[in-house]
Amino acid sequence: IDFFTYRDGRLHVEDCPVDGLVEATGSPAYVYSKAALLGRFNELREAFSELDPIICYSIKSCSNLNLCRLLAEAGSGMDVVSGGELHRAKLAGTDLTKVVYAGVGKTDDEIADAIESGIGWFNIESEAEFENIASIAKRMGRTARGALRINPDVDPETPHEKTTTGKKESKFGVDIDRARRFFERYGRDEHLRLTALHLHIGSPVYVTSPYERAVTKALELIEVLKKDGFTVDALDIGGGYGTDYVSGQSPAYADYARVIVPLLRDFRASGGTVIVEPGRSIAANAGILVARVQYLKQGGRKKFVILDTGMHHLIRPTLYDAFHFIWPTRVGPDHEPKEHLEAMDMPGLEPCDVVGPICETGDYLALGRPMPPVARGDLVAVFSAGAYGMCMASHYNSLPRPVEVLVDGSEHRVIRRRETYDDIVALES
Ligand code: LLP
Repeated sequence: IDFFTYRDGRLHVEDCPVDGLVEATGSPAYVYSKAALLGRFNELREAFSELDPIICYSIKSCSNLNLCRLLAEAGSGMDVVSGGELHRAKLAGTDLTKVVYAGVGKTDDEIADAIESGIGWFNIESEAEFENIASIAKRMGRTARGALRINPDVDPETPHEKTTTGKKESKFGVDIDRARRFFERYGRDEHLRLTALHLHIGSPVYVTSPYERAVTKALELIEVLKKDGFTVDALDIGGGYGTDYVSGQSPAYADYARVIVPLLRDFRASGGTVIVEPGRSIAANAGILVARVQYLKQGGRKKFVILDTGMHHLIRPTLYDAFHFIWPTRVGPDHEPKEHLEAMDMPGLEPCDVVGPICETGDYLALGRPMPPVARGDLVAVFSAGAYGMCMASHYNSLPRPVEVLVDGSEHRVIRRRETYDDIVALES
């Protein structure tokens, strides 16, 4: 089901007309659908139900506490990568035994806090980090659990090299061929019990074969480690499931599950715990960024649509050449989009560079993009912006970040107020 639909020429989020909503909250606004968010979470749980995995929502993808809380209430654990994200996980009421903590640069304070909080697993990224966490746990008189993050050396075939993580030359995890030595050296530590493996191959991954290769390698490694006398009772297979930005429809979780579940059936049956860490695939299609057209401008033969948002609020087009469908929130009957790709072939469109107010040439949301005619004051929606949108937004050019709004049926609620200029300077002496 799509929760972002055009009815009588007006974009609705669930049953809320977007233009009315944004008249109330102002623009730019990130607008999320509760039903879309929870729908994706439940779809994932359903697809992988045979493995009954611990689902650890990747907070980094969309961190608003209200959304984290909805997911925690639905039974989600959290994938965190910093003390700040652990703080959010706590505030959201997460069951902390369902928290996994990854990241190559965990500080001593962050580690101590996570041990104190009783998180589920530290995902261990290096030998030096293992030694540090173990010694902090020892000093605290505590035990913690660790999952060795292996780097399976699998090409995830992501569209952009900046989001590839599972190849050998990446900074994440340890090479899979070093894993056995790692266990020999650290696998008997009493304060940091190394009883799990973790991997994350990249993001977004639109094909299933990299998961197949990576999980197979991990299972082979688990067999070897067992023969060496170690226990590996949990396997975290990371996140990275795709979201189809072009049509706004994610590939079904069932497509991934069809490949992954059979591989892990025996591991699960023998008492192993499976962990997954999706972020984007839950949040991306649960949110849009709505902005107002400030000016139209001709530059040579180019038409520019200048918005009150840009790279400071959604950096993905600039940083990853990412595609986000952009369409006015009100259109005539000829321009009601069903599928995003087809919509861009409709008659009466004009190619536009959709840009923001930031003083950088790289400040654009789309280049040469076919759009229905818009006028100053119109609202446009940037689709599939729920993940890696607001959480990567900045104050660049001292512009406030957008308001965040959650829609539930025909109701909407501000879940993060718009920043003021005073908010921007609040921490400066
Ligand atoms: N687990 C680990 C260890 C990760 O590093 C990530 C994402 C995830 C899980 C969640 O991946 P997801 O399911 O969301 O694909 N800013 C980029 C994406 C960076 C992903 C970083 N790691 C973007 O906008 O495309």
